Amino acid sequence: MTITLRVNGRDHTVEADPATPLLYVLRGDLQLNGAKFGCGLGQCGACTVLVDGKAVLSCILPAAAVRGREVTTVEGLGTAETPGPLQQAFEAEQAAQCGYCIAGMIVRAQALLSANSAPTDAEIRAHMQPNLCRCGTHMRILKAIRRAAGLQPQPSRPGA
Ligand code: FES
Ligand code: FES
Repeated sequence: MTITLRVNGRDHTVEADPATPLLYVLRGDLQLNGAKFGCGLGQCGACTVLVDGKAVLSCILPAAAVRGREVTTVEGLGTAETPGPLQQAFEAEQAAQCGYCIAGMIVRAQALLSANSAPTDAEIRAHMQPNLCRCGTHMRILKAIRRAAGLQPQPSRPGA
């Protein structure tokens, strides 16, 4: 069936089964390859995008479910030439190792900062909990989010 999606401020029309995961449409039809296929089961966060400003897992969300809603991918948060605040902060903190999780991390962090421009450490950790980084760069990711929020890095706690 024909599905019209609004992604990063532009309308797109695709032919797809309505049950097709949004992630497949973004990557396969719209060539927006920022969101990644990690587990495909809603368990890793690599595929995170924003729908109406909320972080969602696009691997388990049918494309038809976002008709009439605003989808934002990491490509909508800045470009290589003009990176957004979170993208700048992730680069400044060298938060990526392999980079596979990073688009999802940035998108989920955007949802937090849009709702709460000065989150506490605990709020950042709780919000980011669904997104996994197999390279273990979590501490640098947290620093990058603090940087983007304009917060001073806080001393790490024993066992953190
Ligand atoms: S690929 Fe979607 S949660 Fe893992
Ligand atoms: S940087 Fe490799 S999975 Fe996070």
